[in-house]
Amino acid sequence: MRTRLLMSDQTLFRSIDVFEIDYVPELFNYRESQLNDLAYQVRPALEGGRALNAVCRGLPGTGKTTSVLRIFAELEQTTKKILPVYVNCQNDRTKYMVFSRIYAAVFGHAPARTGISIKSVMDAIGGALQRQEKSLIVCLDDANLLHYNNTLGDVVNSLLRLHQDYPGARAAVFATISDMDMDLASDLSRWVISPFRPSEIYFPPYDAEEIRGILQERIRVGLYPGVFSVPMLDRIVEQTMESGDVRVGLDLVKRAVLNAECAARTEVIEEDITKAYEQAKHVHLACTIRALSADERLLLRKIAELSQGQTEPLISGAIYTGGEGKPKISYTAFFKRLRKLDALRLVDLIRVQAGGRTSEVVLRYEPEKVVQICG
Ligand SMILES: Nc1ncnc2c1ncn2[C@@H]1O[C@H](COP(=O)(O)OP(=O)(O)OP(=O)(O)O)[C@@H](O)[C@H]1O
Ligand SMILES: [Mg+2]
Repeated sequence: MRTRLLMSDQTLFRSIDVFEIDYVPELFNYRESQLNDLAYQVRPALEGGRALNAVCRGLPGTGKTTSVLRIFAELEQTTKKILPVYVNCQNDRTKYMVFSRIYAAVFGHAPARTGISIKSVMDAIGGALQRQEKSLIVCLDDANLLHYNNTLGDVVNSLLRLHQDYPGARAAVFATISDMDMDLASDLSRWVISPFRPSEIYFPPYDAEEIRGILQERIRVGLYPGVFSVPMLDRIVEQTMESGDVRVGLDLVKRAVLNAECAARTEVIEEDITKAYEQAKHVHLACTIRALSADERLLLRKIAELSQGQTEPLISGAIYTGGEGKPKISYTAFFKRLRKLDALRLVDLIRVQAGGRTSEVVLRYEPEKVVQICG
């Protein structure tokens, strides 16, 4: 291996932005059919009606958010008849926050901070849509996060019934969901199923060749030639396939290159990748834990504590009743919290019998590390 010392301003990155999480790729292959389906949902709004509702469903890192954002960007450039509003439910978790986001898109500024009721925010939105004759499409990205708080039904219902108070106001919802088990139709039926009736657009996991194609393109745009060899890319593809999330691969490529830079090499070697993998594992864990509510964090901590030194599989019922005192929440609420941890890939839930709610719970990280980060 030929090595040479890098000057401090020498870099292997042509453009490091290409590996950031909010980078929107120039080339977006393998999702033509999903993009066509989304375009089809939009069509009625272009003709003066309201768009059809849609649920984009697929595991993390399968291109749902990017697909919706591409359609929204195109709408912004080509028509004034539609107002697309993107809401990231990771950040906006209450009904008020969601409607504030929509308000900001309609009026160009957030509602005044204090003293405004949700009713008046909705009134303002409804009135403006009526006057401007614009058809609203709200993307609730990661809508399952609202669902775990029981706010999804309420939000969707309020949006889809806007026209009852404001005749002519038209709104549709595109929800993205990464929880494959969540049955929206039955879960939301209490509220909304009749006006909602979403079309399901499925985003299958990428296969190894598609992952390779995506990573290769980023490497081509983001790195100097010769930095990432084909065998090294193979290693990353292999590790990405374990999680199925392209993001993992993009992050590993970036870290491996940074490690090579640190070691003053001009080419990534196996060791850089191994090290990247170790680093990335805990960063992902810490980020995910930080986004949990206090109750969710307590539950995760409990699972980690029960998993320590345990050889038998952990059963959901035992977690529910384990620890001191009587459980404070219903089993249904508890199980919903567990499903969220599963959707965030902190644990794996393995159904013990079909249709039942008793599951084996497998922590995906070392229990000691989880306890330490949960604090
Ligand atoms: N077909 C593709 N071509 C290029 N890049 C892609 C493709 N699909 C996904 N990506 C990239 O992978 C990352 C994850 O994609 P995206 O955020 O759209 O996934 P998602 O399905 O919304 O995931 P999650 O459920 O975790 O929110 C992004 O950085 C995106 O740019
Ligand atoms: Mg997403």
